[in-house]
This record gives sequence, structure tokens and C-alpha cells, in this order.
Amino acid sequence: MCGIVAYIGRQDAAPILMEGLHRLEYRGYDSAGLAVVRGAALRLYKTQGKVRNLEHLLPQGLKGSPGIAHTRWATHGEPSDRNAHPHTDAASRYAIVHNGIIENAAALRAQLTAQGVEFRSDTDSEVLAHLIAAMPADTLEKAVRAALQLVTGAYGIAVVDAERPEALVVARQGSPVILGVGDREMFVASDAAALVRHTQSVVHLDDGEIAVVRADGFETSTLEGGPTVKVPLVLEWQAEALGKGDFAHFMHKEIAEQPEAIRRTLSGRLEPRFQTTHLGGLEMAARELLEVRRIKILGCGSAYIAGCIGAQLIEQLARIPAHAEPASEFRYRNPVIEPDTLYVAVSQSGETFDTLAAVQEVTRKGGRALGVVNAVGSTIARACGRGIYLHAGPEIAVVSTKTFTCTAVAFALLAIHLGRLRDLSTGHGERLVAALEALPDQVAAILANDAAIEPIARSIAGYHDVYFVGRAAGYAVAMEGALKLKEVSYQHAEAYPASELKHGPLALIDPQTPTVVVLPRDELFAKNVSTIEEIRARRGPIYLVTQPGPLAVAVDGLLEVPSSEPELDPILLNIPLQLLAYRVALARGTEIDQPRNLAKSVTVE
Ligand code: G6P
Repeated sequence: MCGIVAYIGRQDAAPILMEGLHRLEYRGYDSAGLAVVRGAALRLYKTQGKVRNLEHLLPQGLKGSPGIAHTRWATHGEPSDRNAHPHTDAASRYAIVHNGIIENAAALRAQLTAQGVEFRSDTDSEVLAHLIAAMPADTLEKAVRAALQLVTGAYGIAVVDAERPEALVVARQGSPVILGVGDREMFVASDAAALVRHTQSVVHLDDGEIAVVRADGFETSTLEGGPTVKVPLVLEWQAEALGKGDFAHFMHKEIAEQPEAIRRTLSGRLEPRFQTTHLGGLEMAARELLEVRRIKILGCGSAYIAGCIGAQLIEQLARIPAHAEPASEFRYRNPVIEPDTLYVAVSQSGETFDTLAAVQEVTRKGGRALGVVNAVGSTIARACGRGIYLHAGPEIAVVSTKTFTCTAVAFALLAIHLGRLRDLSTGHGERLVAALEALPDQVAAILANDAAIEPIARSIAGYHDVYFVGRAAGYAVAMEGALKLKEVSYQHAEAYPASELKHGPLALIDPQTPTVVVLPRDELFAKNVSTIEEIRARRGPIYLVTQPGPLAVAVDGLLEVPSSEPELDPILLNIPLQLLAYRVALARGTEIDQPRNLAKSVTVE
């Protein structure tokens, strides 16, 4: 979604803010802006469109500090120059950047208008700038604190006061704010990606916290005024991980990084000696884990689909009933929370609002949640307090690739761990541990075969609608394949359980509607081959993602992956479908890293 960056220190803020905005652009990108303080005045620039539009607008060598900046993904008010952030009060003394939604903005706007305030944008955020200016307070901190008392909704904000440039004030309620601690300079961002070039030492604000940030340090307190103590966390990300390297797109780079990313997810977690896995962050004793009767996995988008693969793994290997559900649905249906159910929240960013709300619903009702999360120290990770970090490294492309794979790997680790506490045999555990060790090289082998995908991608690029079918865990692979394709190629792509094809979608199969069939060589192989025959009989083009071996049916394209242990096969079968989506999007000339209308981290409802 929207991104915030702020800086205070001895350097000029503008270059640091611009660099940070470029890093955050993947979160939301219909407009961008910045404000710096120079000589007791604000210098403010904002524009619709990409960060590079803002770059063109800035004067050469713009001086001043502190400064705040923003990339916007419109919620209130269309994308336009006037709705871009920062927003200021009437006297242009205070400037604010805001992520989130102020729910009582309409009422506050009406009150302020009645008092003679003239609004210059359609945003809810501008209300805050006027409120801050209207507060009788002798410090920026007091003014912001008083203004926030009047506001309901979600916010991550950064505010500067042109007349008091010695500090900037930030606050958080439901939308992330992270402080970066430098050497006599401080950075602020809504996402660690904007900080890592400058510092590895970060502090995550909690909901209901305010921070006064000066060049030489910061103080945090609650909205009510009680001081809070924050211990900085050391980021493990390296700045190089945030560049595209030799790749044309982040999506391609992140697909290619998967062998390394999987190695990091596995690192220190395999215990071949006991044919099991070790997960230090679970913080649940064996006895507690044995009491788990059901597992419910919650996530959104690809995180949800990775959860579907996770549920299958857990059910197969640990024989615990497990089920994945979109977190967005779960939180709204007043779910029954059971004490012997373990709830698992899956999120790359650790900031997805619906997933966080689902965790809060679970814990509020006394349930236990653990996180499968990539971003260390993120809101969902902290809300769960325990879980499995992916360590996949930063994922910048909006669509998830390496974190999808690493989430499935993390679930394999969890399933083996739970299984070995129950009935999973030493022999089976041993085979699975060995198969996980082999996984990075197998993924590398699939990636090396990228060229085989090119002609298939070119033919799929020519169609309007594409079906993806599979059975059991193969269906989850089909779901992710379809999601990936529609996100980056803008084609209508739909996943269906192969068994359900004849109950509806078969009516749509004709020579213009291709089907991608996920065909592992498992006990359902013959059934899937029958499905292929049914499609063939309607002259539907067929593309397979399968494993080596004899095949008695004619197909239009074949993508092969090596075999793993059957339970882990879905992880490998998904990889060519990522490359397929990427190559189809290339062929269709769509915007790959930042698909239209989508954002990497959806921090609003
Ligand atoms: C958005 C992104 C998806 C992502 C989902 C969940 O919808 O476009 O690619 O899978 O959010 O994100 P999370 O950070 O919670 O995994």
C-alpha cells in the first residue's frame, strides 16, 4: 500500500527520501510527494504518477532537513496531484504523510469547514494536518498527540513543523512505522526496505505509540503519554538484496533466488540424526504440540494458497486435521475458536491487515496463534509472538514467488516436526529430511530449463481464458498458477479441482480455451489422465506440468520437474508455473513488478 519515509539529521533529506521512495514504490504507486524544512519554511513537491515523475519535479540540489515523503495508493480521493501527500495546514507550517484510513474524516472535515478551514484535497489525511495546526500546544508532539485523540481509524504518520525543525513526530495505529537508528541521524519508514541502505538497527513502533525523533535519538510514549521502552532490532537484510542485479524484473530475480532462499528457510532446522526438524521459534513444548487436535491456517492471496499446501502436508504427515481459509473471510464470520486448535497466520510482509485482524480475533477469544512470516519483527510476527520466520530475504515484486515456495517449505518443516511427535516413521522422516535437503538443487535444475517454457508461454499468451486444474495438493498448485498468471498477464485464469471439471467448466472448453493440468505421478495419476482425455475430446489445448515418465496422451506443451518425496512434489510443480506467468506477461508486454491495481502489502481492509 502507501509508503512513508522520513529523515532528520545533518544531511539534506531530499536524496535520502527519494531513494527511500524508490524502495517503497512497490507498495503503492499512483502518486508521490515530499516536503523538507528549510529556513523555517516548508518546501513541498508532489505529483500524480510514479516516483520518477516526482524526481523530474524536484529542483536540483534541494536542501533541508527534516523531511517526509510518501508514495500513495489511493483510498480516499482519486489519484491526482492535489490528493498526493504530504498534506499541510492552511499556513503551510505543518506537513504530514499518512498511511491508513481516518474513519471519522467526514465528520471532522465538516467541523473544520464550519470553522472556516478550506480543504485543498479530497483525502482523509488532510484533516489531520488541519487538526494538528488547530491544537493549542507548545510542542509538535503535544499538537500531534492532541489531534490523534480526536481521530478514529488506522494510521501511520510522520509530521514536520517548519517552525520547529529540531524534531519530527511519528505515530502508529494499525499501519506500520519503523525507526532506523543512524549515527547522529534518524530514519523513518513504513517498511524496512527503505531503511536498510542506511542502517541495520531498527525499532518497530507498536499500535498506540508516538515517537519524537531527533537527529541524535528518539523517545517513544503511548498516545496517553506514558513512556515506553524500545530495544532496537538488527535487520538481517543486506542492501544488495534490494536491487534487480542483472535481471530485468524483480519477479524474475526472486524466482531465480529460490534455491538460496529455500536453503535459508531450511538452515539449522533439519535434524537428520532424529529424522525430524527443529523449529526454535515455535516455543511450544512437545507435550503442548501433542495436545493440538486441529490446525487452521489463515492468510491472504498467495499466502493463503501456500497455506492450502501446508494444510495438506500437515494432514498427510502428522495426521492432524488441517484446513486453510482466507484470513479476510475468517475474521468476518465470527469464528468459533477452539482451545485445542492451533491457528497459523501466514504472511510475507507480516503487515496484511486482514491476516492481522484474524490473529487478533483468535487471540482475543483465547486461541493460540503462531506466525509463518518473512518480515522479522513485523506486526503479525509480534502479534503471534512465536512461529517460523522464512528468512527468504526481501521480496519486492508485488506477486509472491520465493516466499510462496519458502512458506510451503516452512510448512513441510512444521508437518515433519508434528509428524515425528506422532506416527511418522523414522524411515519416512529420514526420506523427507533428505528430500528437503535436495530441494534447492532440484529447484535450480528446473530454473535452468527456463528455455523450454518460452514457446509454451508464447502460445498461452495468445488466449483470453486459461484453466488450471489439479487434484488434492495439485489443486493448490493450480490455484497458485492461475493467480500468478492473472496477476501479471491480466488474462482470465481460473483454477478448478480436476474432479469438478465435468460439473461445470467443461462447458467452456473448446479449441480457444487451454487448460494447464498439474499432473504429479502419484496415485491420482490415472484419474488426472482421464481428465486430460475429457478435455482432449472437446479439442481443448492441453499443457502439462508433470514429472518424467511415460505418457499415453497427446498434449500441446510439457513442463517437467524432478520428483521429490510425493508430499513435497507440489513445491516443485509450482516453479515452472511461476516462470510461465512471468514469460506470458513478458510476451504480452504487461507491467510485471507492479501489476495494475495491486499492491504488495495490503494494510487496509
Ligand atoms: C497482496 C499481494 C499478494 C500477497 C497478499 C498477502 O494481495 O498482492 O501477492 O500474496 O497480499 O500478502 P502477505 O504479505 O500477507 O503475504
